[in-house]
Amino acid sequence: MQVVVLRETVEGERRVAIVPETVAALTAVGCSIAVETGAGRHAFVRDEDLAARGASVETDRTHLLQSADAVLSVQPLPVGDIAYLAAGSTVVSFLQPWAHRDAVRALAARSVTSFSLDLVPRISRAQSMDALSSQALVAGYRAVLLAAAAAPRMFPLFMTAAGTVAPAKVLVLGAGVAGLQAIATSRRLGAVVTAYDVRAAAADEVRSLGAMFLDLGLDSQEGAGGYARVQSEEFLARQREVIGEHVARSDVVITAAAVPGRPAPLLVSADMVQAMRPGGVVVDLGAEAGGAERGGNCELTRLGEVVDVDGVTILGPRNPASAHPLHASALYARNAANLLTLLIRDGQLDPDWDDEVVAGSCVTKDGEVLKT
Ligand SMILES: NC(=O)c1ccc[n+]([C@@H]2O[C@H](COP(=O)([O-])OP(=O)(O)OC[C@H]3O[C@@H](n4cnc5c(N)ncnc54)[C@H](O)[C@@H]3O)[C@@H](O)[C@H]2O)c1
Repeated sequence: MQVVVLRETVEGERRVAIVPETVAALTAVGCSIAVETGAGRHAFVRDEDLAARGASVETDRTHLLQSADAVLSVQPLPVGDIAYLAAGSTVVSFLQPWAHRDAVRALAARSVTSFSLDLVPRISRAQSMDALSSQALVAGYRAVLLAAAAAPRMFPLFMTAAGTVAPAKVLVLGAGVAGLQAIATSRRLGAVVTAYDVRAAAADEVRSLGAMFLDLGLDSQEGAGGYARVQSEEFLARQREVIGEHVARSDVVITAAAVPGRPAPLLVSADMVQAMRPGGVVVDLGAEAGGAERGGNCELTRLGEVVDVDGVTILGPRNPASAHPLHASALYARNAANLLTLLIRDGQLDPDWDDEVVAGSCVTKDGEVLKT
């Protein structure tokens, strides 16, 4: 069974869907791995290291596509590539079908069976395939490094002969996987961190990382599966009213609030940014999901740009996980290999369609689009 990994072609995408360790793991379950020359170059994964674990390395992309029983990728394959896939072959990607409808239609039209890592149900058994979490972890870490680099002040407390430097005050809005990692990273840098989430359950997690939980006195908005539920415009307006003073008092605000399948909730208004002191920094992780613009948690964010509002810097980073491609790839490649392994029985692709992880992550099958 031939498993193919190609160079990613989306601009700015530096991750790759295979690393030497997963070549070995997939070979052990009966796969032969073929990789396009230089596929891991931007993630510092060398062809020779993949080859040393048993992968073949080839330059002919079209031939690789035609010969694939399964393709692993980070971004959805380009529509032009999908045209070369054999009917009945399988693709495992971070597909986010709602954001990549053309690719999904093309996969169905070619009768390719496709699975999306972002749709893997978040049950305990599937944690090793949870690429949403592994990549959100990298994004949360990245957000803090961006904030620390952009801020004119330092993060830690320093007591020196020249005087005392007070620690930075960081506010994290949205304490899911990315937000919790932003809290942990800010704490490691010595900042004083406060965080807020609409799910009451997040309070203990925030406190366990040494941050203060901000109780705004609003109702919990817990939805199904540990996610936030969709919030009313009245709730969000009330939330903005009470968050304002906390934003104004912060040196750095990191926003990482999301509701699955919805535009990002607007938490930080233009007025709130204007009330921050000069030198303030906002890093908005809500601006993008899966390469698709999602609006952002801050009204003034412009995706991929640096916005200056009277001395307050607003960053809406594109694809933040890709900024640390070595570890983001290692984690993603393991997630992808674990999902592919679940689809293999006796060395062949033979998914158990009664398995909720298999059924839940399948996007196209037998020429039909199952998830949009
Ligand atoms: N069982 C598992 O395997 C597993 C794995 C990962 C995550 N989870 C659960 O899912 C939760 C969230 O995961 P995620 O990070 O992917 O979520 P996400 O990216 O969908 O959302 C990020 C955070 O934004 C919060 N949020 C939404 N609207 C908000 C608002 N108006 N103001 C402030 N915060 C707001 C959400 O409550 C969430 O914590 C986790 O904390 C956990 O409970 C479970």
